[in-house]
Amino acid sequence: MSHTRLEPIHDSPPKLGDVIVLLIRAGVLVCLVASVSLALHSTFSKPDRWFPLPEHIRTVQNASVIDNGPTNISHILFGIAGSANTWHDRINYSMLWWNPNTTRGFVWLDKRPRILHADTSIPYQISQGWTRFRHVHSASAVRIARIVYESFKLGLPKVRWFVMGDDDTVFFTENLVTVLGKYDHNLMYYIGACSESVEQNVMHSYNMAFGGGGFAISYALAAQLAKIMDGCLKRYFYFYGSDQRVWACVHEIGVPLTREGGFHQFDIRGNPYGILAAHPLEPLVSLHHLDQLHPLFPNQTPIYSMKKLISAYSIDPARIVQQSFCYDHNRGWSISISWGYTIQIYTTLLIAADLQMPLQTFHTWRSWKDGPFTFNTRPMSSDPCQKPALFFLDNVTNGRSGSVTTYKRYEGKEAKCKTEDINHAKVQKIKVSALKLDPEYWKNVPRRQCCKLMNGGSIKDGSMHIRIRKCRLQETITI
Ligand SMILES: *[C@@H]1O[C@H](CO)[C@@H](O)[C@H](O)[C@H]1NC(C)=O
Ligand SMILES: *[C@@H]1O[C@H](CO)[C@@H](O)[C@H](O)[C@H]1NC(C)=O
Ligand SMILES: *[C@@H]1O[C@H](CO)[C@@H](O)[C@H](O)[C@H]1NC(C)=O
Ligand SMILES: *[C@@H]1O[C@H](CO)[C@@H](O)[C@H](O)[C@H]1NC(C)=O
Ligand SMILES: *[C@@H]1O[C@H](CO)[C@@H](O)[C@H](O)[C@H]1NC(C)=O
Repeated sequence: MSHTRLEPIHDSPPKLGDVIVLLIRAGVLVCLVASVSLALHSTFSKPDRWFPLPEHIRTVQNASVIDNGPTNISHILFGIAGSANTWHDRINYSMLWWNPNTTRGFVWLDKRPRILHADTSIPYQISQGWTRFRHVHSASAVRIARIVYESFKLGLPKVRWFVMGDDDTVFFTENLVTVLGKYDHNLMYYIGACSESVEQNVMHSYNMAFGGGGFAISYALAAQLAKIMDGCLKRYFYFYGSDQRVWACVHEIGVPLTREGGFHQFDIRGNPYGILAAHPLEPLVSLHHLDQLHPLFPNQTPIYSMKKLISAYSIDPARIVQQSFCYDHNRGWSISISWGYTIQIYTTLLIAADLQMPLQTFHTWRSWKDGPFTFNTRPMSSDPCQKPALFFLDNVTNGRSGSVTTYKRYEGKEAKCKTEDINHAKVQKIKVSALKLDPEYWKNVPRRQCCKLMNGGSIKDGSMHIRIRKCRLQETITI
């Protein structure tokens, strides 16, 4: 509108009568613009007049202010982004972590599913009102971005956090509760993690919580988001993803991303082994893209692998994939344990700074390149004598004095090192004992736990025993 009006109306200098007519026109135009902007202002500053929020939300907010007890699973409302056509296949991932007795939330579908899993106990909702939004890419991105708004609008009592995830996201809910428990849900928080692949963050944002890894919105932030969400969806119609729309909208409120390294978008190709064998010192919160990646355990299905990992997680949630190092100084070995998942034995002495660096067993998401990633990696050597011997979780037992996990040697098809002494030593099995890690551990500045070879590192019937324990104050992990 304004564009054409700014162009000159006359070629020759205007006469006095023309000037008056012009002034009147200008005056009318100014009035028109003023009244239109006034109308727009009043509608956008009170959008709940358009989409009224239920009355009881006020009381809910009041109740959540009063209840200051520690955050537990009942305070989280999950919103899983699903679709009617794929839910039937994807539900297996959600069923791995969804406990029908305690988990609250819904999978949000575009329409009523034709077939439902017989024993499904995850309730679903049909997304409403999303088709009227303009979009350049997929309409489902609009629908999924709106889940946080629709979840909030349900007005369910005692919700402190709205946690969004995909239908192929696996949450470790005990650790999620530990992480969210550090933050006050009455303040505005946007919690998650960016992508592992630099190219993805460059393309989207380093300040965006990637949706597949899942993200958490505090009640206070959800209340503000609900007011402006539909306006954002109109403004950001040209965006690609749903998480990008939420990101843009959250940044209109001025809330930055609070990074938690346990959320894993897993924007990588190949084998995620390296990351989970050298996880950062943060509780494991989520995994994503499991059917796009190699299974976590060799020669197993993705679902079986997850069940295996969860069998260890369920007896010591705070410790899952936490790394400890020890050295066998007599043999000159370095041993790296990722509790509940894997152990690596190197027949050389590697410094702690190297052991905590993930082996690059994967490529970037978009370009399938060797990097860059948002963390350092070290290459997996092609020399079989430099490669670590790998052990994977086999059995989990829980006793009064902590857990015992056993790890079995994995013999891949790759060439073996001829001179490698671990082959002569014939370690086939490693037994690891550890006390249960208190979730309170994550409230303080973490320190990696130490490990100790038991029985002087003796190997009996192909089996070694290692104990994980708190490091002593003066203790260091030194070659
Ligand atoms: C919560 O509600 C009670 C009455 O129902 C009121 O007295 C109190 O001031 C409210 N608190 C807040 C923080 O709004
Ligand atoms: C969670 O905490 C609330 C109080 O804030 C309590 O009423 C409820 O029983 C707790 N639920 C679980 C599962 O611990
Ligand atoms: C999901 O699990 C069921 C059994 O629980 C199985 O029959 C089905 O094939 C699985 N679906 C996929 C896509 O893996
Ligand atoms: C849910 O509760 C029932 C009854 O208390 C119990 O038998 C079942 O094992 C529970 N399920 C899970 C997944 O905890
Ligand atoms: C795990 O170990 C326990 C105790 O040694 C044993 O009873 C159980 O059968 C083992 N489970 C598997 C799957 O090997």
